Amino acid sequence: MIVTSNLTKIFRDKKRGEIRAVDSVSIECQPGRVFGLLGLNGAGKTTLMRLLSTILKPTSGTAKVAGFDILEQPEKVKEKIGFLSCETGLYHRLTAEETVNYFGRLNGMKEDQLKRRVDEMFERFDMNEFRKRRVDKLSSGMKQKVSIARTFINDPEVLILDEPTLGLDVVTSRGIIDFIKKSRGSNRCILFSTHVMWEAQKLCDDIAIIHKGKILEVGTLEQLRSKTGLNDLDDIFVKIVGE
Ligand SMILES: Nc1ncnc2c1ncn2[C@@H]1O[C@H](COP(=O)(O)OP(=O)(O)OP(=O)(O)O)[C@@H](O)[C@H]1O
Ligand SMILES: [Mg+2]
Repeated sequence: MIVTSNLTKIFRDKKRGEIRAVDSVSIECQPGRVFGLLGLNGAGKTTLMRLLSTILKPTSGTAKVAGFDILEQPEKVKEKIGFLSCETGLYHRLTAEETVNYFGRLNGMKEDQLKRRVDEMFERFDMNEFRKRRVDKLSSGMKQKVSIARTFINDPEVLILDEPTLGLDVVTSRGIIDFIKKSRGSNRCILFSTHVMWEAQKLCDDIAIIHKGKILEVGTLEQLRSKTGLNDLDDIFVKIVGE
């Protein structure tokens, strides 16, 4: 459902020169699976996800998301995906509920279907207490929950989740990880990035280790274990990245 072929993004910066943020990345995310991206700060995870969400244009290479080419049919790609990023803008003046409703309507959901889904999400993420509160009066964890509810509202086929549990407490994180796990359906693919190894270990069917824009290894946890002779994902990660 996501296939990239030599996808590359080079930033040109006056001070730093040429930055190969994403360097010839070829990966395949299959339906029914969660594909995890692990990498240090600055490894290229967010840039890769922004390319796939058509927010950025690649320098070279290409990708298909849900069957559509990111360069030829970016509008179709946008229709098919739910993208959660740390920079996902929330409108400060809307309440939590208005925000989620707004995105549901934007995605063409019918009112009765939308109401059912909003109730379900607010209940599941324990958001009813601040349902009618304006976004600018929410804590950062509460805002993150609103962003997550917003991303999932229309049940997208392809989910691209950039550090969904960033800034969330341990109980909330667990709830979100369980929810993502349950959302893995036979015709849905989930691309997920994290710095938290237990999350990746618990959730991901496939794990890619990205370093300085390049994919160093891809495989199931078992495959990475047998390749490195190590058991814990932390150790495996550090060994592959070599730092
Ligand atoms: N708009 C930009 N202009 C110039 N350089 C950029 C831009 N966006 C990202 N970069 C650079 O690209 C590289 C990859 O950054 P990216 O945000 O993709 O990393 P990341 O893996 O998401 O890191 P983190 O774990 O900290 O979120 C970094 O060197 C970053 O400084
Ligand atoms: Mg990032």
